[in-house]
Amino acid sequence: MLIWIKCCGGHILYDIDATKLDSAFPKQKFDTIIFQFPNVGSREGKYGHTSNHVMVRKFLRAAKLCLDMHGKVLLTLVDNPHYRGIFKPDEAAIFAGYKTPHSYPFDASKFRGYAHTNTNDDDSAAQSYNRFVTWVFEPE
Ligand SMILES: C[S@@+](CC[C@H](N)C(=O)[O-])C[C@H]1O[C@@H](n2cnc3c(N)ncnc32)[C@H](O)[C@@H]1O
Repeated sequence: MLIWIKCCGGHILYDIDATKLDSAFPKQKFDTIIFQFPNVGSREGKYGHTSNHVMVRKFLRAAKLCLDMHGKVLLTLVDNPHYRGIFKPDEAAIFAGYKTPHSYPFDASKFRGYAHTNTNDDDSAAQSYNRFVTWVFEPE
């Protein structure tokens, strides 16, 4: 993934909290913000939801503040009812102020140099499944 970004002329920044993107980039605006396979690496719950559910909602809310006029946020997840139940993309969109998201299949083989990285040494969802989906969120 990092090699791919570098090849495209991108800069790599570390230690950016996705839930606080607006603090990390108070002035800069982006046309596309992408988070591939968000996972906090913890199964603990917060506010009656999984940590992943909470993190993604906070990310979507913060990312919206960093988008330019026609900007969008892309979120790639495992495509199955379990993951849809954790992240609830439609409800997350309402929560964070986006239109109902549309989606398309994500095929890693189409992105030369892309390799999935696990959060911990735990099982990788991306390696255990073969159907993935990219959700596209556009602000209301
Ligand atoms: C399953 S890995 C996917 C990594 C990479 N995006 C990919 O597609 O291979 C999940 C990533 O989400 C990151 N993550 C979790 N919570 C985060 C947060 N609040 N801010 C930024 N990254 C976070 C983890 O550090 C980990 O790198």
